[in-house]
Amino acid sequence: MRIDKYLANMNVGSRKEVHKLIKAGSVTINGQKVKTPKEKVKENDLVEVNGQEIAYQQYHYFLFNKPKGVLSATEDLHQKTVIDLLKSKDRYKGLAPVGRLDKDTTGLLLITNDGQLNHELLAPTKHVDKVYEALVAGQVSQQTVEDFAAGMKLKDDTVLKPAKLEILSVDESQDRSKIRITIKEGKYHQIKRMFGAVGMKVLELDRLQMGSLHLDPQLKRGQYRELTEAELEKLKKSGE
Ligand code: URA
Repeated sequence: MRIDKYLANMNVGSRKEVHKLIKAGSVTINGQKVKTPKEKVKENDLVEVNGQEIAYQQYHYFLFNKPKGVLSATEDLHQKTVIDLLKSKDRYKGLAPVGRLDKDTTGLLLITNDGQLNHELLAPTKHVDKVYEALVAGQVSQQTVEDFAAGMKLKDDTVLKPAKLEILSVDESQDRSKIRITIKEGKYHQIKRMFGAVGMKVLELDRLQMGSLHLDPQLKRGQYRELTEAELEKLKKSGE
């Protein structure tokens, strides 16, 4: 790979900025000053800019705690997306969220430029578990738990796979329930539509888990970090 592409891919700067760095003699490969942007970098070469190593990482995986009010999209003309919330040094080419959370849904969102993993985790045949907690208007009953477990039919006749619903608490005075739900699909507005089908409204929805990946309690809304190697290895198995 050409050194200018290598450095641009690693977000050292735009191609133009990288060319300036090369011209200024700031870039070395294995200790030798790079003279032209066309120079090639091979695997295991040591690339440095002003003495600082720039290692090549093809794929990036960010565990993101999505806040309310942003779109799970890569770009939008009018509204903020989750990609806009990444620091500019982390906005690598090809990054995209794995699946979509509604604008008002919070919680775990994986953002990666590994298209294959993205595809595998979303494939309808893979049935990767997604765990959410929600605040629901009304008092969720045992009947609803059974309806969800049986695999319910939505108002538009979509038939869903069985889902596990746990009632965490019911507040009779406020007429609200806290629940945890595990679904194996990721249909459009699925959880809101499931409660809609039993005459209830989801007031708040927060994703806690996708496959083996858990939301990190250290991350505040809008914060993110790279996955650890152990998390990535386990997650790849969820998509197998
Ligand atoms: N189900 C929904 O209704 N919304 C989400 O954001 C995710 C699952």
